[in-house]
Amino acid sequence: MIFIPGKNPELSLTELQAFSSTAQLHQSGVIVAGDIPKPSDAQAFLNRLGGVVEIIEPLFDGPIDESTLYPLLYAHLEKELTAQAKGAFGINTLPQKKPEAMKSLLEMLKKDLRDAGIKANFINNKFQNVHRLNAAESRAENIWILEDEGEKVLAGRSLAYQDVERYAQRDYKKPFRDARVGMLPPKLAQTMINLAVGENTAGRTIYDPFCGSGTILVEALLMGFNVLGSDVEERMVGGAEKNVVWAREAFGMPAELSARLFVRDAREIAKEDVGSEPLAIVGELHLGKPLTRFPGRGLLEVIQRPLLELYLGFFEALAPLLPKQTPLVLAFPFWIRRGKTHIRIADTVCEKIRPLGFEQSAAPLFYARPQQIVGREIIQLAIR
Ligand SMILES: C[S@@+](CC[C@H](N)C(=O)[O-])C[C@H]1O[C@@H](n2cnc3c(N)ncnc32)[C@H](O)[C@@H]1O
Repeated sequence: MIFIPGKNPELSLTELQAFSSTAQLHQSGVIVAGDIPKPSDAQAFLNRLGGVVEIIEPLFDGPIDESTLYPLLYAHLEKELTAQAKGAFGINTLPQKKPEAMKSLLEMLKKDLRDAGIKANFINNKFQNVHRLNAAESRAENIWILEDEGEKVLAGRSLAYQDVERYAQRDYKKPFRDARVGMLPPKLAQTMINLAVGENTAGRTIYDPFCGSGTILVEALLMGFNVLGSDVEERMVGGAEKNVVWAREAFGMPAELSARLFVRDAREIAKEDVGSEPLAIVGELHLGKPLTRFPGRGLLEVIQRPLLELYLGFFEALAPLLPKQTPLVLAFPFWIRRGKTHIRIADTVCEKIRPLGFEQSAAPLFYARPQQIVGREIIQLAIR
């Protein structure tokens, strides 16, 4: 399968690698994962991936010579538009062809289809690639032509598109929000859960020990996991509970999925909190003060010191409670100076917790929106 990544392709690629050993960034900027078979429900698969905006099914058994593309493409459209009684098609190219080249391809296809008795319009606006929302709404047969090595192209057809409204609903309609602590975007929460468990949807409970408003808990429930959540603030735990109850109702989650939330300082997590079921720890650590300007070196140290103590205390409490190989995916803060230099804390923490048995299982991933001073560094760990 072929995947169009979201805004952070490196994160998307790593997320897909949790499902695939061959996933690679293709030269045209999409991700090709040859070992992921066509999902029986492509939309459901896409809905659980935080870092993918479109799934494409490859056509014609791999790359073909560009010179042989037109008749194959025409034959595909003739067959699909007839079989599915679709009245529209779209063509997308990467890199994008000039409008004149696109115009001649689209008009030739339209004319040849009409000559064969098929009345079909193209949905490309101004002879550009199709806008994704438009493609999703129109239900047109949407084709991708990706430049490959040499004179070859890789062609495919769209199977599913990111459900933008469903994300907006989860992000903005939940009853409890608290901008002060910085809520995790639902897509990033999904990616973090996928990094922790990949295809293994059954059998692990997702535990977020810094649950805040419960974004990770809600996403994990939607993906079919039982969840545990705790936070030091009673108000946050109450809010997260409200959000979980709302999401269960709004998205019709199965009642048998369990959600247990409790108030706990992460440095005091005890055996009776985590129970005996296999866990994956997925959480966004306390990030410290929200900042609108980069702090001077002295102030940054003042911000970092208590965070470092908190994180180390958390890992010390957790280490004796987790069975070997328990996966952990945690978002740490990092500070961005002048829009580019990353000042990290996770590297120091990872060094210090190695004697406790925590090993990094993958390279760190960085996530920040433009202009952000505090970004999130995603660290994957396993306990030896
Ligand atoms: C960055 S927020 C998590 C936000 C959450 N991911 C969400 O989407 O709403 C960090 C959370 O850690 C909690 N926290 C701070 N210190 C803590 C501690 N010692 N133990 C447990 N939770 C703590 C804060 O109350 C806050 O809710």
